[in-house]
Amino acid sequence: MIGTCGFTSFNLAANSAEVGYVLNRTRWGEELAPEALRAVLRFGFSGLGLHRIEAHYMTGNEKSLRVMQKAGMKFEGVLRDYMFVKGDYVSVGVASILSSEFGR
Ligand SMILES: CC(C)(COP(=O)(O)OP(=O)(O)OC[C@H]1O[C@@H](n2cnc3c(N)ncnc32)[C@H](O)[C@@H]1OP(=O)(O)O)[C@@H](O)C(=O)NCCC(=O)NCCS
Repeated sequence: MIGTCGFTSFNLAANSAEVGYVLNRTRWGEELAPEALRAVLRFGFSGLGLHRIEAHYMTGNEKSLRVMQKAGMKFEGVLRDYMFVKGDYVSVGVASILSSEFGR
């Protein structure tokens, strides 16, 4: 097993979901995460009929935003001090893609 990629939560009322992924460090830089993310997005839109899929990353981890952008997601903004991790507030970046944008 070299990593995971999948849905982490669903908002059924809004027909949307959040995705996440993690990859073993020994396999970074091979564009495996963007490839896996595209497959999950395809399943979300074509298989589940979702309207919107979003992803979050901790600011400072912009390589994760690169993964989202490579999969076609657009940066939306930063949720300031959104999480409390190990004694500190952490801001979280958000990217998303709509079903109408996927595959263009
Ligand atoms: C984020 C992550 C999934 C990237 O996966 P990946 O398959 O390596 O993705 P890519 O090969 O497309 O690389 C994406 C970016 O990561 C960075 N990167 C790639 N290899 C790297 C390495 N060995 N060291 C540091 N940064 C690296 C680069 O900025 C790259 O962008 P670029 O291609 O424009 O230069 C992986 O780094 C990871 O699992 N990190 C830890 C967990 C994590 O951050 N999960 C996401 C939480 S939101």
